[in-house]
Order: sequence, then C-alpha cells, then structure tokens
Amino acid sequence: MTGNETRVLLLEGIHEAAVESFAAAGYRNVERLTQSLTGSDLVDALGDVDLIGIRSRTQLDASALDAAEKLKAIGCFCIGTNQVDLDSARRMGVPVFNAPFSNTRSVAELAIADIILLMRGIPEKSARARRGEWAKTARNAYEVRGKCLGIVGYGRIGSQLGILAEGLGLRVLYYDIEHKLPLGNAAPVNRLEELLAEADVVSLHIPETPVTRNIIDAEAMAAMRPGALLINAARGSVVDIEALALALKTGHIGGAAIDVFPVEPKSNQETFESPLREFDNVILTPHIGGATEEAQLNIAREVVAKLVKYNDNGSTVSAVNFPQVTIPDHDHRRRILHIHRNEPGVMEQINHVFSANGVNVAAQYLETQADVGYVVMDIEHEDAGPLLDELRAISATIRVRLLH
Ligand code: NAI
Repeated sequence: MTGNETRVLLLEGIHEAAVESFAAAGYRNVERLTQSLTGSDLVDALGDVDLIGIRSRTQLDASALDAAEKLKAIGCFCIGTNQVDLDSARRMGVPVFNAPFSNTRSVAELAIADIILLMRGIPEKSARARRGEWAKTARNAYEVRGKCLGIVGYGRIGSQLGILAEGLGLRVLYYDIEHKLPLGNAAPVNRLEELLAEADVVSLHIPETPVTRNIIDAEAMAAMRPGALLINAARGSVVDIEALALALKTGHIGGAAIDVFPVEPKSNQETFESPLREFDNVILTPHIGGATEEAQLNIAREVVAKLVKYNDNGSTVSAVNFPQVTIPDHDHRRRILHIHRNEPGVMEQINHVFSANGVNVAAQYLETQADVGYVVMDIEHEDAGPLLDELRAISATIRVRLLH
C-alpha cells in the first residue's frame, strides 16, 4: 500500500504540521478534525482508516478497536498512551506510537524560569504589586549564579535542565536510581538525602512509580536546607502536597513552583483546587511544563515519522505496545510483515510456505513481546500474492501485509 492509498484520520486538532509531514512522505489522503470522536462515530471512522492520530481525549478501548479491521497503527500525538487499550491493540496486530521526547526542552526551560523567578522572590513581589503594595527590597533576592541546583531524576529532562543551569552558573548535583553519566560538570550523589541537604533549589524530574509516590514528603522537606526552593514539573504524586503547604507555612520551604498536582481539573472549565493557592511565594501552573507551540510541532513530526516508517518500511522501533523490529529500507525486494500469536512452531510454518514455493528469503527479522510475534521478511519473488494467502491460512496469524 502506497502513501496515496493509505487513509489517515487525525483527531483532536493535531498540529497542522502533521498533515504537512504526511504530504512530504507522499500521503495525501489525510483528514484532520479538530474534535475528538466517541461512540458510533468513532467506531464508524475506525472501520475505514489505515492510520489514526489521536491526543489524550479519544478513548480507543477494546470495543472501539474491535471494528478497526483496516487499522494498521495508532499515533498518540502526546506523551501518555493510557487512552488506548494497548494490549488489545497489540493482540489485533496494531502498534501504538507516541512522542515521549518532544517536549523535553519545554519542561527544562520552564524549570529554569521557575528557578530564576523563585530566587528573586518574584511570585510574591508580583502578587503584592497587584494588590497595590510596593515591596522594593533586595532582601532575600538572589542571583542564581553560584547556587546549588539538586536534580532528582537525571533522565531526558533532568540532564537537559542540568546543562542549561550550568550555563547560568549554577552548581548542579543530581540523584538517580540508575547510573547516569554526568553531562557538563554536574555531580552525582549516592543518596537523595545528600542532595536535599545541599541544594538551594530542588527540581524533580522522576516518573510516577510506587517508589516515587510522595518521595518528597514531610521528612524529605525537613531534610532540605531552611529556605530552600522546590520545583515539581514531573508528576503530581511525587510530592506530599499537604506537607508542602505546611513547610511553606512555617517558612522552612522558601518558595515552590508546582506544575503538576495529585488531583487536576479534567477540563479548563473546572475550578482548580489546591492548598497551595493561598501562598504568594508559590508559582502555580496548570500542567503546562511541556505545552509549547514548539513541542506540539515536534510531536506532530515525531509521531508522523514513526507512523510513516512503520507503514512504508515495517519498523516498529519505539512502539509502546509491540515487538520492536528495526529494519533497513527494502529497495528492489518484496517485504512481507507477518504478525502472529506467539506460539511454538509458527516460524516453522511460515518458513515452510517459502520453501514449499521455492522462494528465497533474503532477510528475516523477528521479535516477540508477550503474546505477539512480529516477523519481517524480504523475499526475492515477484508474485507474492499467493504466498500471502498461504501465510494468512496459518492458524496463529493475526495480520499479514505486503510492502511494495
Ligand atoms: P526520563 O525517563 O528520561 O527520566 C526519568 C529519570 O528518573 C530516569 O533517569 C530514571 O532512572 C529516574 N528515576 C526513576 N525513578 C527514580 C527514583 N526513585 N529516584 C531517582 N531517580 C529516579 O523521563 P523524562 O522525559 O525526563 O520525564 C521526567 C518526568 O517529567 C516524568 O515524570 C514525566 O512524566 C514528566 N513530564 C512532565 C511534563 C509536564 O508537562 N509537566 C511534560 C513531560 C514530562
């Protein structure tokens, strides 16, 4: 199937750059809707498309996917993928792609802005000025140069933040459960407590896991330096928010910037409730750490690239629910993609189809994940049609596709 024959549906106002990226790859049959679809509208739409792009609102559960007979892949034009029943999609032979890296820079930049504003006491000064108070003083206002930033979670965002912070003259410490090589002059610490005891500002960039739940609790806050600052643009569950409110009240925590919350409004129409609303020295942002025009553009390009690569070449690299196969381009050869239940003897049956038909297999790439196997085969044979029928007849087959 070529790009022109492939029907693509993009929902939820995915960035226009997605359409441009598809067009640049030869895909012209792309429909872009601003809204999400639900119920029978979604089921009808799914029955007729090869590729679908969604953001966080469209729910692709098992019953919606059931009707998606033509569907080859799902693109989540966002970070999260829990709006898709990933296991059902895999069992149907449908890989799901997302864009986990596209907003790294946006979050790191927000953290830098938070650090500078908090060190200068700007949130409080700005709040007071709005109330007509003139708080002109240098007391408790600091440059960031020479201060110590403690980064908890030195992954994509944490390490990029470290580099930006060093550029501003901050001394960077980091704590990570994995061994991570330092970038720049950042220095690892072995225990979280060491970082908390030394940092003037602590910035959290860890995932939500059972271990990270409330990792910054009352005890951890007590271990921070008096007047230290706390930034959380990771996940709402990693900070005990009531304990933070208390530490702000006593002044032990000198200020905070919080972008993510244990409970967040489900829409922009809902009121935002938080015990932190009363504090002038806290920057509250509505989970927009990664929400920039650039990130949206990057997300569009990243997810389209993955969908096109899978559709044209068979590569499932970075699929979140599927065996990951990385493969070279397939000029001058027929390429067959075979998705099957991961059972003993399937490869033998597949290979028998080729040997019985005297077909040479030039290359074969197999990966399995849980209950599904995915094998990509390059064959030296012009008329692949009859072979496809035989491959489909293997009882464990989920899907077979010929690329040309
Ligand atoms: P990443 O996976 O690249 O890095 C996370 C790092 O945390 C890894 O190095 C990992 O080894 C480390 N880690 C895991 N458990 C730990 C623990 N118990 N203690 C110390 N380190 C631990 O993730 P990335 O892309 O840097 O994202 C970090 C966080 O930022 C995630 O929670 C993500 O959900 C959040 N995020 C928030 C956004 C927002 O809008 N505010 C946007 C994008 C990401």
